Amino acid sequence: MLSAEHVILRELLAHEPEWVSGPAMAAKLGVSRVAIWQCMEKLRAAGFTFEAQRARGYRLAKRPGTLHAALIEAQLKVRPRHFSLVVLDQIDSTNDETARQLGAGRPTPFAVLSRRQTNGRGRFGRTWQSDSTDNLYASFAFRPRVRPDRMQTFTLWMGVNVCELLANFTGLSPGIKWPNDILFNGRKAGGMLTEARVDADQIRDLVFGLGLNVNQPAGTWPGDLARRAVSLAEVTGAPLDLNRLAAALIGRVLLAYQKFSEGEHLATFADLWHRYDLLRNKPIALLEGGRRHHGIVTGLDDEGALLLRDDHGQAQRFRAGEVTLEKSS
Ligand code: BTN
Repeated sequence: MLSAEHVILRELLAHEPEWVSGPAMAAKLGVSRVAIWQCMEKLRAAGFTFEAQRARGYRLAKRPGTLHAALIEAQLKVRPRHFSLVVLDQIDSTNDETARQLGAGRPTPFAVLSRRQTNGRGRFGRTWQSDSTDNLYASFAFRPRVRPDRMQTFTLWMGVNVCELLANFTGLSPGIKWPNDILFNGRKAGGMLTEARVDADQIRDLVFGLGLNVNQPAGTWPGDLARRAVSLAEVTGAPLDLNRLAAALIGRVLLAYQKFSEGEHLATFADLWHRYDLLRNKPIALLEGGRRHHGIVTGLDDEGALLLRDDHGQAQRFRAGEVTLEKSS
C-alpha cells in the first residue's frame, strides 16, 4: 500500500517543473483537499518546501538534504514484488537491524537505510564512521538459494554494479579495490560488508551492507580518515541529491541481485570487473592471517579469489585479505 506522501511526491516529481492541482492529487488518492493539505504540512515539517498558487496548485521547491523514505520510494524505477523499504533516523548498524528483521521473518527483498549508525561496522571488526547524516548507510536483505561458496563473487558483482551506477550518476570514474572498497583517486568513498547465515551448506539469508560517503564536506574526517576517505561531493565539487542517489542505488542493487540469482551475471561480470578493477598488473601487499604477501596481481579466479604472481614468479591465490597498493619499482 503506497503512502499518501509517496503518491503526492510522485505526482509532483512526474510533473516538474509544471504545477499539480490540489483537486487532481485529491482525486488520485481518493481523499479530500484538506487531507492533501495536511499531508503537505507533514512534508514541510520534514524539510520540503512547496510553491503554492490558488489557481494552479503546488510545485516542489526544495527537497530535504537527508534521507526521506517517501521521496526515495517515489523515485524508485524498479520495484520487485514484496520489496519494502525501511528508513530510520538512527540505528546501531543497518546490517544488524536487517539481520534482526530477517530473523523476525520479514519478507525479502527489503532494504534498511539509516541517517546515522551508532555502531557502523566494516570488515575485520573495524568501525565504519557513521555520524554524518550526509552519507548513505544501507543494507539489503535477500534469501537466495545458492551455495555459500558463491558469497565472494556476490560481493564482487555487487561492487562492480555500484561502481557502474556511480559512474553513470556522477560522471566520475570510480574503481574497486578487491574485494570490497570503492575508491576515487586513491581514496575510499565506499565499502561493502556481506554477511550470511548458513544452514547445512545452504544460505539461509544474506545481508549486503553498503556505506557510501556522499556529501560529507572536506575537512570533517576524523583522524587518519582525513588522508584516506573522500566523499562523492568532494570529488564532483558539488553536493549530490542523496535521496535520488539512494533510489538509483536501490534499483541497481535489486536488479544486480536478480541477475546474480539467475546466473545471468556470468555474461558480463568479467568485463565489468576489468573496467573497474584497480589492482590488475599492480604490485601489492596482501595481509592475510597475520602474514604479509607481496606480488603482482594477475586477476581473479572463478570463485573471486585474488591471483598474485609473487616475487619468485610463483602463482598464489587468496580468498581473503587486506590489500595495499605498493609503488611500482
Ligand atoms: C568495509 O569497508 O570494511 C565495509 C564497510 C561497510 C559499511 C556499511 S554501512 C551500512 C552497513 N552497516 C554496517 O554496519 N556496515 C555496512
